[in-house]
Amino acid sequence: MTPETTSKLRIGIAGAGFAASFHLENMPPEAQVIGVTSARRESREAFAASHGIKAYDSVAAMLDDIDVLDICTPPSSHSEYILAAAKAGKHVIVEKPLTGFFGSPTEFTKGQMLQSVADEVRRLREEVGAAGVTLGYAENFVYAPSIQKEREIVEKTKAQLLRLQGEESHNGSHSPVYGVWSVQGGGALIAKGCHPLGAILYLKRKEGLARTGQPIRPVAVSARAHSITAKPAFEDKGFIRTGYQDPIEDYCVMHIVFDDGMVADITASDIVLGGIYDYVEVFANNHRTRCRMSPINVVDVYNPKHEQFQDLYLVEKISSNEGWIPASPDEGWSLGYRKELEDFLAALREGRPPESDLELAIDITLTIYAGYVSADDLGRETPVPRLD
Ligand SMILES: NC(=O)c1ccc[n+]([C@@H]2O[C@H](COP(=O)([O-])OP(=O)(O)OC[C@H]3O[C@@H](n4cnc5c(N)ncnc54)[C@H](O)[C@@H]3O)[C@@H](O)[C@H]2O)c1
Repeated sequence: MTPETTSKLRIGIAGAGFAASFHLENMPPEAQVIGVTSARRESREAFAASHGIKAYDSVAAMLDDIDVLDICTPPSSHSEYILAAAKAGKHVIVEKPLTGFFGSPTEFTKGQMLQSVADEVRRLREEVGAAGVTLGYAENFVYAPSIQKEREIVEKTKAQLLRLQGEESHNGSHSPVYGVWSVQGGGALIAKGCHPLGAILYLKRKEGLARTGQPIRPVAVSARAHSITAKPAFEDKGFIRTGYQDPIEDYCVMHIVFDDGMVADITASDIVLGGIYDYVEVFANNHRTRCRMSPINVVDVYNPKHEQFQDLYLVEKISSNEGWIPASPDEGWSLGYRKELEDFLAALREGRPPESDLELAIDITLTIYAGYVSADDLGRETPVPRLD
């Protein structure tokens, strides 16, 4: 290694799929991705070869050679790898969701799931804290330029956020392990709802810190969850994913009450056509903001014939390249992937928590599982547990 490369933070990526690719592509120059591991030898070797890095057989084998473990594996493995990295004194970047409940959804009640997740996040907090390492929770919505603009408005004008509304929806994940509770920890609420929820909890934290010095946090939720595509009456025209292994929700709405009495509503679903639909809208006492993550309406492209654009990436989850398309010119920017990694590395250098940290990730996780408890009881208001 040259002197220049040895001074860079050495990153090892766990996972060689979709998230691993956008993490690697958006990694700032002061870090160097040196290795990758994954569940399958072929995938890690192909990923390593195409990026000129080393393929490792396991996370354990990679830990000695790195400063930061970047976890881009399915949710069920996140906790194990966070704990392994912390034990080895390595910093952590972890994709969403932080963790979850990965037992059978038919054998365990939602209350048992919430209790188990509360125990798990407490353990993560203790172990990460005891190891003195930093954890960056890769909630990219926090770093989207639209959310960061809203943070600035909130901080500079001491705005009070009365109600927020957000959504992530599309027509169903194509991952073969989506719909498998033991891998994902749930359906649309945890997999998609975590994004607008994460941005909203972040903004309420920032509001509280700006106005009173104390973060404003969620206290209770009411949620409804439905498996629309599993209903006998659902007519399948072939545009929406169906046939999930477990009875997961493909549509969920969740109402959140904060400790200042203000509220938010999020929607997460797998039944929306027209490309990925991501936004957060803020209704404050002194302004109103629409934060668009996708589509962002920067470039509209008209394509009269599908074939001529078939090898061109335009926007996530669009099912046709024909007609007018709201193309994404740079998702690393608009979805916050680049700023997220920049902030994590700067946080490590400066010895401060990142904007999206473990405490935010814990609140998001507990709010989601309180949501599952509520949805199981047809929307009964359910407290969000606190670790402190
Ligand atoms: N922030 C976002 O916008 C975003 C988008 C997509 C996925 N994600 C998150 O990223 C993570 C990965 O999702 P993905 O879409 O990249 O999945 P993927 O299926 O494309 O890739 C998963 C990779 O992890 C590997 N893997 C599986 N189990 C493993 C294990 N136990 N140990 C080591 N490697 C293992 C697989 O071999 C594969 O290479 C998930 O947590 C997901 O929620 C986030």
